[in-house]
Amino acid sequence: MMKAFTLTFLLLAGMALCAIAQNISSFNPGELWLDTDGKHINAHGGGILLHQGKYYWFGEHKVEGRQGNSAMVGVSCYSSADLLNWKNEGIALKVADENSGSEIEKGSIIERPKVIYNKRTKKFVMWFHLELKGKGYDAARTAVAVSDKVTGPYTYLKSFRPNAGEWPQNFKEEWKHKTVQEKDMKAWSQEWKDEVAKGLFIRRDFEKGQMSRDMTVFVDDDGKAYHIHSSEENLTLHLSELSPDYLSFTGKWITIEPAGHNEAPAIFKHKGKYYLITSGCTGWDPNAARSFVAESIWGPWKPLGNPAKGEGAELTFDSQSTYIIPAPGKKDTFIFMADRWRPKNPIDGRYVWLPITFEDDKPVFRWEKSWKLKDSF
Ligand code: DGJ
Repeated sequence: MMKAFTLTFLLLAGMALCAIAQNISSFNPGELWLDTDGKHINAHGGGILLHQGKYYWFGEHKVEGRQGNSAMVGVSCYSSADLLNWKNEGIALKVADENSGSEIEKGSIIERPKVIYNKRTKKFVMWFHLELKGKGYDAARTAVAVSDKVTGPYTYLKSFRPNAGEWPQNFKEEWKHKTVQEKDMKAWSQEWKDEVAKGLFIRRDFEKGQMSRDMTVFVDDDGKAYHIHSSEENLTLHLSELSPDYLSFTGKWITIEPAGHNEAPAIFKHKGKYYLITSGCTGWDPNAARSFVAESIWGPWKPLGNPAKGEGAELTFDSQSTYIIPAPGKKDTFIFMADRWRPKNPIDGRYVWLPITFEDDKPVFRWEKSWKLKDSF
């Protein structure tokens, strides 16, 4: 009896060790993705930083149950050499104690964290979407934290609504003086949408700063960084220049796709052109992705339609964009990073990573049950 027990124990322990040490060799979108400790990766709405040859994945740490969509722990960080096998580096930005009065106290909402490295200051800068505790999604602020070390700890600096007192670069003079207000029109009527596109909400929020919800950041080849976010009640995307230290906004900004109702912006550059992939706005439910191209980051941005192709494309294969990375070792290929949200049990949210290629000069991606970066690994 004792012998059988010992044998079973040894077998199970051996199996557990194998599972932990298992090398992941392909992307399996929508499946559990185990880190090097054998635990499902907990980094939702994430972004990647490539630093000194290593990839760092930052994302929302979620917990079980409905409260799991608010920040109970902080922002996770994982590291990897091959984008497949990820080591948990712990919590890069910790939430502050409950009732501490901090803007990032436990129970606030911290979404879509993205980290960029500033070569001049040698600091790692984390931007994220912040909602203040107990206020739903009304605060609509962007927030920034900084660290000397890539994995953290990050020090929280501030949150705000950007571009207070600044008009966008692509805004007509006559729109600045319009007097029409929200109460004058039926929401979602064509007239209302036309007025949104002519700055209805920009004028409303001009003094206090523009709303900032789903966001990403991007560093261009010349070292300039940009913050792209859903603004104006999620009706319009705003793209803003960051200061040379990446810690604030310079006040130079544009609108993208006014009244187009875009969320989940993810940007990349290919052959000198800028591409954006976004989603529509349906809460945690998936919808069809959209794509845009521009010759200059300052626009004009031209719509290119749904970049997802094939069966399931109308719901982006049950996912929503969060980031795009150049695929190592694969020319003209990028990796579309998306979230398959599980709002009832957020910790079980899955990751959908798919290869983006180009067809007729447009970015496209298709469902792949399992795929490899064959050329490089
Ligand atoms: C969709 C956004 O993309 C997510 O980041 C999150 O804000 C949910 N909406 C909340 O409903």
